[in-house]
Amino acid sequence: MNKPGTNDFQIVAYGREHVKQVFAIEAELNPEPWSEQLFTDELTVPETSRHWLVALGPEGVVGYAGSMLIGTEAHLMNIGVKPTQQRRGIAKSLMLTMLADIARKGLVDMTLEVRPDNTAAISMYQKFGFAPNGVRKAYYPDGQDAMIMWLHDLNSSAYGDRLKEMAS
Ligand SMILES: CC(C)(COP(=O)(O)OP(=O)(O)OC[C@H]1O[C@@H](n2cnc3c(N)ncnc32)[C@H](O)[C@@H]1OP(=O)(O)O)[C@@H](O)C(=O)NCCC(=O)NCCS
Repeated sequence: MNKPGTNDFQIVAYGREHVKQVFAIEAELNPEPWSEQLFTDELTVPETSRHWLVALGPEGVVGYAGSMLIGTEAHLMNIGVKPTQQRRGIAKSLMLTMLADIARKGLVDMTLEVRPDNTAAISMYQKFGFAPNGVRKAYYPDGQDAMIMWLHDLNSSAYGDRLKEMAS
């Protein structure tokens, strides 16, 4: 979804060869990171219930995103971009591809949890049309509550047009 030739990264399907680099980025981003085993195990889950993507730059993985698919709902489980590569549109490209892919699969709604003080992520989710709707008490290992956000009708033609406009 990123424009070839204008960005030095591309969005591709997550595979076994990416696990170590994804885990290394996750460990840089999160004080309580997902384990490498968890990232490996995600590859063994039936592909009908998961959608994982990575952003690849010249030196390897620079970002990743993964969603759980349940019926017509997607749940964004994780998204991260290598700190030195942030603010270059990598997460935006991951989200554009993720949303277009899951809309094609017939999913309708998407949800996620985010720390209420994660202004960078919240700003991005709002640009994609996610809106706050609920709180998960003590969701994070340090006891912080999570803000729940939802996006609806992601398979509508209006939302498809919105994604195309964001990608242009
Ligand atoms: C959130 C995160 C994935 C964004 O990745 P990124 O590649 O830097 O984001 P992009 O460059 O694609 O920016 C997309 C939008 O996100 C928002 N954004 C990203 N970084 C931001 C920042 N530092 N401050 C404010 N808004 C920011 C902006 O709305 C931006 O749109 P804009 O470029 O038009 O302003 C990245 O900061 C990250 O990995 N954070 C740590 C992990 C995390 O918090 N994951 C989300 C868990 S819910």
